[in-house]
Amino acid sequence: MEAACEGAGRGDAPEEKEKQHRRRRPEEPSGGMGERGAAGRRAAAGAPPGGGDSRRGAGDAAHPPEGGDFRCHRLQDSLLSSASGYSNYRGILNWCVVMLVLSNARLFLENLIKYGILVDPIQVISLFLKDPYSWPALCLIIVANVFALAALHIEKRLAVGSMSEHLGAVLHTVNLLTILCFPALVTLAVTSITPVGAVFALGVHTILFLKLFSFKDVNKWCREKRQAKAARTRSAAGSQKANGNVASGAVAYPANLTYRDLYYFLFAPTLCYELNFPRSPRVRKRFLLRRLAEMLFFLQLMVGLIQQWMVPTIQNSMKPFRDMDYSRIIERLLKLAVPNHLIWLIFFYWFFHSSLNVIAEIMQFGDREFYRDWWNSETVTYFWQNWNIPVHKWCLRHFYKPMMKKGAGKWVAQTGVFFASAFFHEYLVSVPLKMFRPWAFIGMMAQIPLAWFVGRFLQGNYGNAAVWISLIIGQPIAVLMYVHDYYVLNYEGSQ
Ligand SMILES: CC(C)(COP(=O)(O)OP(=O)(O)OC[C@H]1O[C@@H](n2cnc3c(N)ncnc32)[C@H](O)[C@@H]1OP(=O)(O)O)[C@@H](O)C(=O)NCCC(=O)NCCS
Repeated sequence: MEAACEGAGRGDAPEEKEKQHRRRRPEEPSGGMGERGAAGRRAAAGAPPGGGDSRRGAGDAAHPPEGGDFRCHRLQDSLLSSASGYSNYRGILNWCVVMLVLSNARLFLENLIKYGILVDPIQVISLFLKDPYSWPALCLIIVANVFALAALHIEKRLAVGSMSEHLGAVLHTVNLLTILCFPALVTLAVTSITPVGAVFALGVHTILFLKLFSFKDVNKWCREKRQAKAARTRSAAGSQKANGNVASGAVAYPANLTYRDLYYFLFAPTLCYELNFPRSPRVRKRFLLRRLAEMLFFLQLMVGLIQQWMVPTIQNSMKPFRDMDYSRIIERLLKLAVPNHLIWLIFFYWFFHSSLNVIAEIMQFGDREFYRDWWNSETVTYFWQNWNIPVHKWCLRHFYKPMMKKGAGKWVAQTGVFFASAFFHEYLVSVPLKMFRPWAFIGMMAQIPLAWFVGRFLQGNYGNAAVWISLIIGQPIAVLMYVHDYYVLNYEGSQ
């Protein structure tokens, strides 16, 4: 009795405090450690198993009401104080979701009452086609095959030694530059191409550029390895044949230089070339159908949200911009931030989870790591390492590490990668809009000082909040800038 009183009264004993937290922690599942601990203690005190409150602490069990001092209090912190060690906020998360749905339902109704139904699937077609007899974006995508085949033929010549490495490098460089310049020039010259059609065509060419860059690098590494191996084993002629990987079913250089191999890579959901991609054993039909259904549903949802929610908000933002009414501009910006962010999140799921998995499943492409847990980012660096894994892998393998190997410092290499990324972001926005403004470029380059600031001054939840804020606010700023400039350039001048 005395010992128990002492134990309960010693507020500064950390073990006792910890025991009490564990006893009172409500998230412990029944039958878990807490229950077992209580049962054990009851058994030690001679109490019948299963009887009474399972959460009753050791003190209570040791002091039954009949013979004790009727205590019902113990030294403990309130759940919401950080010292309590309590961390199960699942209910609060559910509350947030309910509040989000309710407040957006109100917004949704308000939007419907104000504008009526603006969703128009037929209008989507006009975003791709200005003139039904002219399909410049599709023609550009078909022409892209020429560049892929050119890269394959250069590699074939290099593999058999009928072309020098230097000439090969020059031809690859010309081919790669043409991949970027040709569609840009066509987009700027042809009037029948729409901005959306141009984004698609330039997007395909950008992906092709990154893939063929990787294709050229990997084949070069294979040749270097082959030469090094040949130098080592020159005395033992013929051993190459016996050592071939072909016996194990794997493709060895230069047997990879086929149309089939190249086109598998071009359609595979990766930007990094490999001679032997990991393959999944079979196509899972139910998985494929689920992802396909998601893909179609989320695509419709995004188009609907853009037409119904984003377009009117953007249109209403033009007047405050014209009048340079700063408080109204900020109000419009915050209003646009909600649908913009929601659409971006849907886009993330639609593209990185549904669409890339559909392609991977059909092609039995085994590596499905298209994204990692970027939503937990506490630093901007972590976000860029985890949100778009195909691009991040390409940047590391073909840009960042080669630069570091050549002696560049970490900061120089990182700035180089972000500079290249900023260029491609700008390329994909400015060229289709036929309007050269640096907003996307600045947005991407701003990631470097932002990464430094967040890493230096903010940690944990504050860092995570800073990453979210930069995503929620940063994008609509760029969207509004481009839309405003596009509007001024194309509509105000003609009025
Ligand atoms: C710039 C970027 C590549 C830096 O990546 P990071 O992971 O922060 O870079 P780190 O310094 O941590 O190093 C990464 C790798 O390089 C390796 N490395 C570091 N120094 C090296 C050196 N001197 N030589 C060779 N390798 C080196 C590390 O070992 C590490 O290897 P691992 O991945 O196998 O573990 C990344 O931030 C990025 O991808 N940014 C751009 C993303 C982007 O634009 N995305 C567009 C999406 S729309």
